[in-house]
Amino acid sequence: MSLSFRASVAPLDLSALNQLAQAIADPGFAIFPNFLAADISQDLVTLIEEKILSNELKRAGIGKGIASQVHSEIRTDSIFWLDPNDSNTTAQRWLGAMDLLCAHLRSSLFLPVHSYEGHLARYPGSGFYKAHLDQHQKSAARQISIIIYLNEDWNASDGGQLRLYTDVSRGVKGPFIDVIPRFSTLVIFRSADFWHEVLPASRSRLSLTGWLRGRDTPG
Ligand code: OGA
Ligand code: MN
Repeated sequence: MSLSFRASVAPLDLSALNQLAQAIADPGFAIFPNFLAADISQDLVTLIEEKILSNELKRAGIGKGIASQVHSEIRTDSIFWLDPNDSNTTAQRWLGAMDLLCAHLRSSLFLPVHSYEGHLARYPGSGFYKAHLDQHQKSAARQISIIIYLNEDWNASDGGQLRLYTDVSRGVKGPFIDVIPRFSTLVIFRSADFWHEVLPASRSRLSLTGWLRGRDTPG
């Protein structure tokens, strides 16, 4: 009984969905420490640990589809894309929550978001991702970026902060916030607007990073 009850609890309730929508409306980004119920964050940690052990994380590239190439001078993480056809309960719960968020942002903010794509990511010790925007140059499909950190017992001195540049017009020349990638912290921002980078860490760093997408535009 308790198991089926637990599995039916949504990772994001209505109040969480509202908080996310409000942040996206203004100022367009937010950082929420301890945002998810501990059980879903814990299950995501278990999932990424399983994928690491079974060697299913692959070096991440830059660019879309077959044009994607590994550039170790830009990013050094390894990733595993969540698959909607995967029967894994944790992946399904998370994808379900992201569908709900998509629907919520469509109805409350009229955002043109229709699907979610996301990957588990592991940055090795001293890994990094240089400053970038999440919208691909040739596509406006990525509208909203959502990151969940999965690092238990992470301290500021471990590094690996997400540096989020908060002034849309000044980008990397403007002010920034450094987010410590602590277990169950959620970061959300408009993908087209906010420059960000991952600073080197002294140990390996785990996250789930994903995007709410609009319809792909040709070209
Ligand atoms: C990304 C990214 C940030 C982070 O994968 O595009 O910017 O903090 N990740 O992991
Ligand atoms: Mn990014």
